[in-house]
Amino acid sequence: MESRKHITWSQSQVSKENRQKLHNHKSCMVWLTGLSGSGKSTIANIVQTKLYELNMSTYLLDGDNLRHGINKNLGFSNEDRKENIRRTAEIGKLFVDAGIVVLAALISPFEEDRKLARFLFNEDEFIEIYVECSLEECELRDPKGLYKKARLGEIKNFTGIDQIYEPPQSPELVISTISKSPEECANELVNYLIERLK
Ligand code: PPS
Repeated sequence: MESRKHITWSQSQVSKENRQKLHNHKSCMVWLTGLSGSGKSTIANIVQTKLYELNMSTYLLDGDNLRHGINKNLGFSNEDRKENIRRTAEIGKLFVDAGIVVLAALISPFEEDRKLARFLFNEDEFIEIYVECSLEECELRDPKGLYKKARLGEIKNFTGIDQIYEPPQSPELVISTISKSPEECANELVNYLIERLK
């Protein structure tokens, strides 16, 4: 690309490994995907608190929150979701380089976009978590009243209603939220991460 022609990479003297040593644990990107209302943000928040209490350096990138700032010019078309995921993954990559355990909670409905996110990281750094919950249950929960609005046609391109959600084909972990408390779901993920980050 012409605009990148005269750009070189400036190597940092402090490495990711240096920073990981400082934090006393490995860093990684924990990517939670699932339908609206499946429990992504709730679980990610509890996990963040639990890891913090274990003296781990964490940061939560929540789709809704990012859309108030860095992603505020993006909507919910396929192209905008792709860009939303790309930006979030790039931001996450910087945090991982800084030695931090990053949690991203985004619907990220398309397998291809999640794959592109994964490709930005080393193989063992990207951990995809499918927060599994049926559309029926998410619609019953409807914590923000968005499904109701989508059914009434007041919101267009709503995931699960008039836009598809592609479940991950090979996530590192599936957490089913239908019959477990958020606390139980979060514990499942914390236990998995503690093993992974040893
Ligand atoms: S995506 O698909 O990854 O780009 O979406 P994300 O950045 O995670 O944002 C999802 C939150 O935006 C609200 N919202 C919608 N979701 C899906 N479809 C449409 N059309 C839509 N419009 C607004 C909704 O609050 C989502 O939050 P969660 O936490 O997933 O319920």
